[in-house]
Parts: sequence; C-alpha cells; structure tokens
Amino acid sequence: MQRQRGQWKSSVGFVLAAAGSAIGLGNIWRFPYVTGTNGGGAFVVIYLICILLICLPYVFAELVLGRRTSRNPVGAIRTLRPGSRWIAVGGLAVLTALFILSYYAVIAGWAFGYIFKSLLAPAMPHGAFTASPIVAVPLFAIFLVLTVLVVIGGIEHGIERWSKILMPVLLVLMLAVIVRGLTLDGAMKGVAFFLKPDFSKVTASVVVAALGQAFYSLSLGMGAMITYGSYLPKSANLRISGAYVALFDTMIALLAGFMIFPALFALGKDPASGPTLIFEVLPEIFKAMPLGGLVAVFFFILLSIAALTSTVSLLEVPVSYFVDERRWTRSRSVWTVGVIAFLIGLPSALSQGAVPSLSSMSLQGNTSFLYIMDFVWGNLSLAIGAMLLSIFVGWIWGVQRAGDALQRGSSTSERFVRVWGFFLRWVCPAFIFLVLLSLFPAGGRLLTLLGLS
Ligand code: TRP
Repeated sequence: MQRQRGQWKSSVGFVLAAAGSAIGLGNIWRFPYVTGTNGGGAFVVIYLICILLICLPYVFAELVLGRRTSRNPVGAIRTLRPGSRWIAVGGLAVLTALFILSYYAVIAGWAFGYIFKSLLAPAMPHGAFTASPIVAVPLFAIFLVLTVLVVIGGIEHGIERWSKILMPVLLVLMLAVIVRGLTLDGAMKGVAFFLKPDFSKVTASVVVAALGQAFYSLSLGMGAMITYGSYLPKSANLRISGAYVALFDTMIALLAGFMIFPALFALGKDPASGPTLIFEVLPEIFKAMPLGGLVAVFFFILLSIAALTSTVSLLEVPVSYFVDERRWTRSRSVWTVGVIAFLIGLPSALSQGAVPSLSSMSLQGNTSFLYIMDFVWGNLSLAIGAMLLSIFVGWIWGVQRAGDALQRGSSTSERFVRVWGFFLRWVCPAFIFLVLLSLFPAGGRLLTLLGLS
C-alpha cells in the first residue's frame, strides 16, 4: 500500500505543488468578484487579517497532521484517535473536496473554453456561452478528464514541472494586463475602490465572506494540505514551506485585484456584478489592447493551468482516501471519483441558463445551483471543517504533541509552539465559531431550501 503513496522530491517541489493547489480560480476568478460584492478595500483588509491570524496558524496544523501520519484526512485522524467520532471530520473533508471539485471543474471548463471562444466567437456573450449545454457540459467533462489524467500519472513530475514553468508566465501576463488596465482613463477610481477601506461597509456577512475566501484561496478546511503534507518527508521545514504557500497565494490574489478593478472602473462597469466578473470584463480589456486576441488566448490557457493544479489537489483528497483506507489502486480510485464528480457536477453545469429551475434558485444572494454549491461547500463547509480540525489538533491531539511533530525538520522554538498553540486552540476556533453563528438566520433559510423545515 505504501508503494501507492508518493513523496515530494524536494521542499521546492512541495511548495510549488501546494502553491499550485492554492493558486487557482479562487485567486483570479473568485477573489475579485467577492471583493466587488463586499464593498472593496475594507473587505481586502479583513481578508489579509484572516490570512495572517487565522489561516497561517491553521496551515501548519493541517500540514503537520498530514506529515505526522502520512495519511489522507480520514486516515490521519484515525491514526491519532482510532475509533473516535473525530474521524467523521475527516469524512466531511473528503466529501467537501468532492463537492468543490464538482462545480469548480465547471468553471474551469469555461476558462478552458474561453481559449477557443476568444479566437472563434469573441462577440458571443458570456451568458449565452455558459447557458448552452452542448458547450458547458463537454467542457466540464474535458476538464475532469484532464484532471484525472494528471492525478493518475502521479503528480510530482507533470505538475511540478509544469507549475515551475507556467506560474512565472502567468505572473508576467498578469503584470502586462495590470499595466494596460492602470493606464486607462479613470483607472485610479478602481485602485481607490480596491485599496481604500470604507469600514462603514463592514457587516457580519462581509467578515464571513472574507474568512471563507481566505480558507478557499489557501485550499484549507477540507484536508488538501493534510493530504499534500502527507507526501512530505520528515525532514521538511513545515513552517517555512507553509508560509511561502500563503505568501505566494496572497500575492497572486492581490495582483488579480489590480488586474481587474482599475480596468473595471475605467470601463464604467459594476464591481458588484458577481461571479461572471472576469469572464465579462477581462475580454473587454483585451479588446482594447494591441494583440489583445492573442493575449486573451494566452491568459485563458494559463488560467486553465492554474485551475488544473487546483482540481488536481481537489481530486487527490478523495483519491488518497480510497487508496489508503479502502486499498483501491490509484487508477480505480481516480476514475471512480472522477465519474462521481461528473455526476454531482452536472446540475451545476446546467445551472447557468440551460435548466431554468436550477438557474433561478436563490440563497443568500447566490442565484443558481452552482453559486449555492459554492456558498455551501466553498464557504460554509470549509469554515466548519477548519473549526473542527483546529479543535482536533489544538485540543484532542494536543498542542504539545502537534508542536513536537511540527518541530521535526525545523528549528522551531518553544516560544513559537506556544504562540502557535494559543492561536490554534483559541483564536481560530473562536473566531470561526462567531462567524458561523452570525449566519444563523441564513441557516434557517438553507433548511427551508433543502425542505427540512
Ligand atoms: N485554492 C484553490 C483556488 O484558489 C481552490 C482549491 C483547491 C481549494 N483545493 C482546494 C479550495 C481545497 C478549498 C479547498 O482556486
């Protein structure tokens, strides 16, 4: 069985793969639109605070859990607390990965399709593109197959090498788009929107969104980092690697903001227009650029690759579960999970106009099945998972033992462990709990929607 489990070649390889998981649609598609719908600058400030105070201590917890046990989320908890109810938290993590994969690959499929759309049908409206089932469903399927092929072939070689080449290219292209956007007339209004915090706009739901986005962007709360950490050698320095992943991810998210808001305001568009933001606004910016058609093609190729390294990590979590716990072969696990993700994702793929009843659902301002999935799994479930996992590591496994495991491979001081333990035991769970509490009226509506009350 151990033969089926790989190991990262180097800590650079691990940082690249983990950053590849973290950097994806969450940074380039989700961060700008969530910032836009939550009022701009103040949201960004709260987001950064969440990354620093909540996510960073929590990243170490997931990584150390994985490395100490060399197991998937379920197996990790089972190893440390055999037979306990906490194993269910691992189960929730695996389930959440599967559900996020199901709709994430739909959006990734759009990004992939935009490579060709930019060339063949640049004038076609985004809404018409996603509403067409003969466009959206095959793209979704293709993207899942690509993910399957990468995960089957083992991650390290393909993904590590590709990330190393393509992430820098993505960065350069982003910088080019940023420069173009900033030099448009009226761009500074966008910079102000993005950077000038107006704290009067902060409500509980803004904080919820910021925390959810922070977890989502760093691939936290559902065991991706447990799983990736489980392929780390005992000699790796978790603190440094984890901090790098968080740093790169945050950088790319901020750059995405600079890419979109200046151009958005210059073109007089509404920043709060929601999830279609990058698909509708960026092509307009490209149109205004010299060689814009080519840039668009490149941009969507790179966006697809960023998304692919993320879907790979989403698929890897349930796959590692079946490989470790059910002793399935890797390829059987990969294909089975891939097919299930396709079936679960179909309603999402059809919810952008193809099937009216899926397209006009509404919950907490989310207006279709796909966006409700994103809210429930990509926001709520991650927060719940992260709260329970930080309690598990901080209180059940215990800071002392977790700290000892964290110190292997790095010269982590006692003081660091104490401070880390404080954040993990108190700050993370308490803050997440408060944030979840504030959602309660919405919880009621969720039950109504699900027909449970
Ligand atoms: N973080 C990725 C992004 O920003 C998405 C992602 C990959 C993810 N794996 C995850 C989100 C695990 C939550 C949990 O696009």
